[in-house]
Amino acid sequence: MKKMEIKTKNRNYPVIIGNSVLDLIYDLINQPGMYENLFIVVDENVFSLHEKYITNIFNETNKKIHFYKLKPGEHSKSFDGLETILSEMIEKKYGRDTLLISIGGGVTGDLSGFAASVYMRGIQVAHIPTTLLAAVDSAIGGKTGINFNNYKNILGTFYQPQFVIIDTKFISTLPKEEINSGVGELIKYAFLTNEIFYNYIYKNFDKIYSLEESVLNKIIYKSVLFKGSVISKDEFEGGLRKILNLGHTFAHAYESQTNYSLKHGEAVVMGIISALFLSYKKGLLSERRLKKFLKLPLRMKLSPEFVIRNYQSILKYMYGDKKNREGEIRFILLSGIGNLATDVKVNESDIHYAIEETVEVLS
Ligand code: GLY
Repeated sequence: MKKMEIKTKNRNYPVIIGNSVLDLIYDLINQPGMYENLFIVVDENVFSLHEKYITNIFNETNKKIHFYKLKPGEHSKSFDGLETILSEMIEKKYGRDTLLISIGGGVTGDLSGFAASVYMRGIQVAHIPTTLLAAVDSAIGGKTGINFNNYKNILGTFYQPQFVIIDTKFISTLPKEEINSGVGELIKYAFLTNEIFYNYIYKNFDKIYSLEESVLNKIIYKSVLFKGSVISKDEFEGGLRKILNLGHTFAHAYESQTNYSLKHGEAVVMGIISALFLSYKKGLLSERRLKKFLKLPLRMKLSPEFVIRNYQSILKYMYGDKKNREGEIRFILLSGIGNLATDVKVNESDIHYAIEETVEVLS
């Protein structure tokens, strides 16, 4: 078991990582006078696979508990999804002394965090990520949100949790496509962190897919450690935190225009490939380095089919991206591992080039 602290200006919170560590929640919620009522938003699939494990632990807390089972999938991250949770909290008479706990992947965490941040002007929230993607990225750092008008995460808040418990027991039952999606965000951290971590991921790529415990623990720990260091310097994405969006301007557009049939992490990897080509086009990467850096994302098996037919719609989604300034699309580009450039302006023909090269290299 590993424990670390995420430090933000207003508050620090613990992140616990390990196998079968969910029962450590007792120490975190049995604080005198706090958390008398637990409203638990749990992904329906996770609940059916782990019902006994989850309910046994929570029933022993002797608190008022309600399990709200969330339909899996990106379409739950919507006004409808939000409304249903908030209505149920009102109906079940949950007040300000509630701790909302999310148990699930990125969708569950983002939606629950948003619900907690607006319910009665804000109640406390904690996350128990059950996917690799949520463990290495989305459960940490306090971003919450829903999709709206087909724009990804266009509505949301920054709202830090009270604690995060990453119990890798949940990850061991994930379907292959969910691991693939998590590896997408992991590849992002390979590029952001340093050569040592990049090489570790490259070398242990197959062991990640076979969910080898020590490898899983290490990649989650290192990603959370890195993300935590970024969050502690820039919680609200005024500057440094933007690097965590490497590949995401492309990725969000790819996801939106496929109506979310593409998994987020897979879209992120496609987006990173596009960002590498764009970095090359802007002179930040030599051809040799481009070829070298493409090797890691290309180890994932991805389908290119959707991109080529919809260039205009991809651009439309990019113009709606939150990172834009003065109506211009801005990108996070890379000149080396751990060397990022943020807010880079590029022209449409360069974007077109990057998308076409992405399609080409994935075919
Ligand atoms: N997923 C990127 C961030 O939390 O900033």
